[in-house]
Amino acid sequence: MKVQNMSDPRIFADRMLSLGLARVSEQAAIAAAKLIGAGDEKAADQAAVDAMRTQLNLLDIKGVVVIGEGERDEAPMLYIGEEVGSGEGPAVDIALDPLEGTTLTAKDMPNALAVIAMGPRESMLHAPDVYMDKLAIGPGYETGVVSLDMTPTERIAALARAKGCRSQDLKICVLERPRHEALIAEIRETGANIRLITDGDVAGVIHCAEYAKTGIDMYMGAGGAPEGVLAAAALKCMGGQMMGRLLFRNDDERGRAKKAGITDLDKIYSRDEMVTQDVIFAATGVTDGSIVSGARRDGGFLETETILMRSKTGSVRRIIYRQNNQ
Ligand code: FBP
Repeated sequence: MKVQNMSDPRIFADRMLSLGLARVSEQAAIAAAKLIGAGDEKAADQAAVDAMRTQLNLLDIKGVVVIGEGERDEAPMLYIGEEVGSGEGPAVDIALDPLEGTTLTAKDMPNALAVIAMGPRESMLHAPDVYMDKLAIGPGYETGVVSLDMTPTERIAALARAKGCRSQDLKICVLERPRHEALIAEIRETGANIRLITDGDVAGVIHCAEYAKTGIDMYMGAGGAPEGVLAAAALKCMGGQMMGRLLFRNDDERGRAKKAGITDLDKIYSRDEMVTQDVIFAATGVTDGSIVSGARRDGGFLETETILMRSKTGSVRRIIYRQNNQ
């Protein structure tokens, strides 16, 4: 039997590392959960960042944050380029959002998550902090059945044909924003239903891969580009298609993309161009949601639910974790 040397920096021991990744998202969620409903987005985010960083640094990895809390000069912790982990073990890229849904947490609304993904070094798109036009559907469809080049009406017609149903039987998830007024009107014109979400489009995209639970067929619209890469990592594990195109509002944003090494500013990225190699993904519920339950106090205990997935095997685990309520 060939024995792999796990301390070889070239070997991404995803099986060994996956439980460690769940620990990281669990602790971030627990820290943020203490501030659910407290009306303070910043404090909840900071608590999640601190906890995530502490846990990440316990892992035996040579990690670099490629999707993080912002640029080094803007964000004190878990900034893009920050090195994390013990420095021993595989060289990995980390994409993270310690609290995806800061407002959802501050207002105690559904689907706030602590999210993290890990893959081998140079396996993730270094998406700058700009918007991304996103399109996602769940597994089971032919590649390219819908695309960002189609109009929303064409996407809905194509998906209805592929699913063998009417447009009226489809449900599309969209972030409720003034920028989406025309998109929402066009979708309604086709007869398709819309689930509007106020925040949290990582969960919005994941919803497409869990149709039986969520009833969502397709995700459309512009949200954060970093969240787009995290969502692509999740769909790479769960199955499903996702595309994204970066959107730029000014030269400063174009400059951010160039700084991140992006030369073709109009490129449409497929799921596998955003996350090019095998990835592990963990998300723990902060507030209750359709994918995982939120962190809850139960007598003397704190309990969380985490979804932990590996793209190599397509394994999806749901982990309930309990600790003494300090
Ligand atoms: P935060 O957790 O940073 O508040 O992000 C929440 C979120 O809704 C993301 O899920 C989404 O991608 C982005 O904000 C949308 O940005 P905007 O609020 O500017 O439309």
